[in-house]
Amino acid sequence: MFELYLDTANVEHVARFNACLPLKGVTTNPSIVARYGIGLNQALSQIESIIGTGARFHAQVVSQSVDGMVEEAKRIHELPFDMVIKIPATEKGLTAIKLIKDQKITVLATAIYSAQQGFFAALCGADYLAPYVNRIDTMGADGIGVVADLQLLIKQHHLNSKLLPASFKNTQQVMDVLKLGVDAITLPYDVAVEMFAHPAVQPTIDKFNSDWREVFGDKLSFES
Ligand code: G3P
Repeated sequence: MFELYLDTANVEHVARFNACLPLKGVTTNPSIVARYGIGLNQALSQIESIIGTGARFHAQVVSQSVDGMVEEAKRIHELPFDMVIKIPATEKGLTAIKLIKDQKITVLATAIYSAQQGFFAALCGADYLAPYVNRIDTMGADGIGVVADLQLLIKQHHLNSKLLPASFKNTQQVMDVLKLGVDAITLPYDVAVEMFAHPAVQPTIDKFNSDWREVFGDKLSFES
């Protein structure tokens, strides 16, 4: 089943979109958690009270060494939430992922800028892969192409990783990865807002309402 995440630690943003969408949970990174300043435990606790105990959280290690990442992953895993541990797909990160997967901890390989980098992470057993679509585009490469290549490699090599593309700056990037059939996606708040924001929608609804009021005033449909 498709998993929809918000890329945020902002409780109000989660509340807004959890009300109108089937949010699976949130993804964070160290910059996102630092931006909201309340710390991971408090943020996740508040967000879980909104989404419910089925919420899944992706949180990143900040340790730099392999041993540090493995130990930190274990500690994050012990938090009283459904946690996915985000590990950067570097040489050290992949080493850590191999060790962490021996312990049946769910892992997302993050900061993926190329298909080959993501492919290695998938070979190491990462449960999720997060290619950074807009950041790749910004560097003059093809973010959607990286996602498409990874989707192909996962299929051709019968790998179990789910693609969870991240880093979007517009809805076209989102639509392009959705059309590739990815398993999950994480949206920044402003892009999530834009997903609803077609300029023709509100004028259409306003015209329905004014036509109705001209004939039936304040009556509701079933009262007419
Ligand atoms: O979680 C990774 C993602 O947050 C990066 O997104 O918008 O900072 O490029 P962005």
